[in-house]
Amino acid sequence: MGETQPGPWRMMDLPRIQDARGNLTSIEAQQVVPFEIKRVYYLYDVPGGGSRGGHAHKQLEQLIIAASGSFDVVVDNGRKKETFSLNRSYFGLYMPPMTWRELENFSSGSVCLVLASRHYEEEDYHRDYYDFLADVRGGR
Ligand code: TYD
Repeated sequence: MGETQPGPWRMMDLPRIQDARGNLTSIEAQQVVPFEIKRVYYLYDVPGGGSRGGHAHKQLEQLIIAASGSFDVVVDNGRKKETFSLNRSYFGLYMPPMTWRELENFSSGSVCLVLASRHYEEEDYHRDYYDFLADVRGGR
């Protein structure tokens, strides 16, 4: 692995500037997020009750935010599985590499904002759960 070991998955409180006109969350690179942000993408127009994900990344670190609405994230590292409900714009779920994730139960109109440590690389994906498990268990 690299010089800095990524920590475990965790919910992070993001800075919140409350205002009667509407709230604001600002994410400063290298201050709030524990990696250098190389890419930002967002999921939207997901049908209510819908699901996404169903893969893991070999090296990518991500911070997932429900910028609007809500959805559940089931994270699994091959040893432990946990479900987080993301339903506030000031929570971020940090996911280290080698985390299988399922995003489920999207509320209609929700927006899933993702900050990512690497550019898009299809080679970084594990899309087969059994290949992922074999990799986690040192198979290859
Ligand atoms: P995928 O990561 O499988 O989506 P999700 O995890 O949300 O279900 O990506 C869906 C498609 O979009 C796939 O063909 C790859 C492409 N894609 C990009 O081109 N760039 C990106 O940054 C991402 C995240 C996906």
